[in-house]
Amino acid sequence: MNILINNVKIVDAKRAFHGSILIENGFIKRMFKADEDVNISNDTEIIEGKGLVLLPSFVDMHCHLRDPGYLYKEDLESGQKAALKGGYTTLCTMANTKPVCDNTLVLEYILDKSKKLDLCDIIQVSALTRNLEGKEFVNFEEMLRHTRLFSDDGNTIFNEEVMKKALILSNKLNFRVLTHCQPEFEIVKRDLGLLKEVGGNLHICHISLEKTLGLIKEFKDTNLKFTCEVTPHHIFGYEVDYRVNPSFRKKEDVKSLIEGIKQGYIDVIATDHAPHSLEDKQNGAPGISLIEVAFSMVYKVFHENGISLNKLSELMSYNPARILNLNCGLIEEGYEANLVLVDLDEEYQIDTDNFISKGKNNPFNGEKVLGKVKMTFKRGSVKYDNR
Ligand code: DOR
Repeated sequence: MNILINNVKIVDAKRAFHGSILIENGFIKRMFKADEDVNISNDTEIIEGKGLVLLPSFVDMHCHLRDPGYLYKEDLESGQKAALKGGYTTLCTMANTKPVCDNTLVLEYILDKSKKLDLCDIIQVSALTRNLEGKEFVNFEEMLRHTRLFSDDGNTIFNEEVMKKALILSNKLNFRVLTHCQPEFEIVKRDLGLLKEVGGNLHICHISLEKTLGLIKEFKDTNLKFTCEVTPHHIFGYEVDYRVNPSFRKKEDVKSLIEGIKQGYIDVIATDHAPHSLEDKQNGAPGISLIEVAFSMVYKVFHENGISLNKLSELMSYNPARILNLNCGLIEEGYEANLVLVDLDEEYQIDTDNFISKGKNNPFNGEKVLGKVKMTFKRGSVKYDNR
């Protein structure tokens, strides 16, 4: 089936123009400028997009879908449907499930179930150490059959030798270590020092402090290769009285993260979508459910700070897709037609009662955000439609 998305503004990390795109067999076949003749076959379905913007769909390098083990918080179906509503088609799901995803049995369960659901593309992150205990490594050889991402997210690797060895192995076996750093500044400093010493493939999760950004700048300026992410909530709010790891920071931190984005030091915006039940939140569980409103939170912040939509697309689609070696994240002929149609003018209030996610834990409930997802396509098929 061919689809023509007609009369839209097409924006990705590299371009912005008015036109149409033709999707054939799940891939972007052709792009037409507004003044070009569009010749298509009779059986092509036409989606009129007047007034809307077409972006590459989003790639989330960091989220928690709680399946297996915590299905009352989220499951693979509810989490992925929420993600599609938020414009995401690829998700890197963290390993802090129950049992922990530190063996192929759990990993294959997640991949098999997701394949049957046929919602998002799932890249399951393996635990780095057994049971996220920071001591003994998982069986890399086995886990590498399914993933190149390893993380004990939620838990910091406190043992320096373990971290050092992980970095050395990441180089040798060609995988990436995603680090959760608490206390943030100290652990990021240690990890960047280790990276400089022994090399490796490192991605630093959810940085939130001005002084951490200072370290990132310092090491990136010396040409050390690594990547880092910020979350939507750490640029959206400050000093919010709500438990999340890392915590909400001060206004100056938020301002500096936004500057860091403008200056090109932040590679990725990842949601850290962390759904919890009301009861678990009352008992102190950290985290925010936000995947279905993440784009609108980020767009609001970018719009208010004069940051382009190209930059948003770079951080939410292009860079994560490059880091993960995916053939998407850009609107170009030959790329997978993983796309999202948005209305940038639509302002709305976050309403957790309308969340598809089982997690209603979002401190910004009732707040206004900007830009709404209308349709999400994965490999050319419509996975979400709210026109
Ligand atoms: O707030 C958080 N919640 N931060 C994390 O790193 C883990 C996450 C969770 O799993 O709930």
